Amino acid sequence: AAKPIQIKVVLLGEAAVGKSSLVLRFVNDEFQENKEPTIGAAFLTQKVRLDDSVLKLDIWDTAGQERFHSLAPMYYRNAQAAVVVYDITRSSSLDRAKSWIKELQRQANPNIVIALVGNKLDLAGDSADTAPGAADASAETESTSVDADEAAGAEEGRSRQVAAATARSYAEEAGLLFLETSAKTGEGVVETFTEIAKKLDLN
Ligand code: GTP
Ligand code: MG
Repeated sequence: AAKPIQIKVVLLGEAAVGKSSLVLRFVNDEFQENKEPTIGAAFLTQKVRLDDSVLKLDIWDTAGQERFHSLAPMYYRNAQAAVVVYDITRSSSLDRAKSWIKELQRQANPNIVIALVGNKLDLAGDSADTAPGAADASAETESTSVDADEAAGAEEGRSRQVAAATARSYAEEAGLLFLETSAKTGEGVVETFTEIAKKLDLN
């Protein structure tokens, strides 16, 4: 059999959005309620099987805390794919995701495949898309009262602040893959990496 194609994937996004939890779910099919913040970055590998090929993903899970921002270029340099994660219960984390995407579009490999991923879907408190108008209004009032760092870890009682339709239309305009996931339930996690592999396979 042919050697699997090796692909470098980087995860980026605000602290506590669930980057490490997504990788832990994808690689070990596990979830930890109180996952400790990543220091620097973590490296893991996992294979993705497509119809007639196997891709080996070399995954760099970066630290979201701002003090680690200057390290990020080391991890996204030469990456063929990036997963930019936000937390659907924190609208500020989508703003941070957009700034990561701008940085990637300026500084990373011009052919990089980018997936925008809205995580913590299990906390949505809705079954389908929230009306964009309603969600945006509540996002503004709530985001001023919640300090993103202080609230990290206090997941109980949170609900959706970012409508899927809002993030999806941004992603479509920017030419990104878009998925919503839950590292907790596993929803959308394998799909995220499979969609990336499919898009890379065509290149
Ligand atoms: P940094 O390493 O600091 O950048 O954070 P991170 O993005 O890697 O977040 P991490 O995976 O450490 O998760 C932060 C917290 O959110 C942990 O307490 C997780 O248990 C929780 N969490 C992660 N994903 C989910 C999810 O899908 N649903 C719920 N309910 N909680 C989640
Ligand atoms: Mg982490």
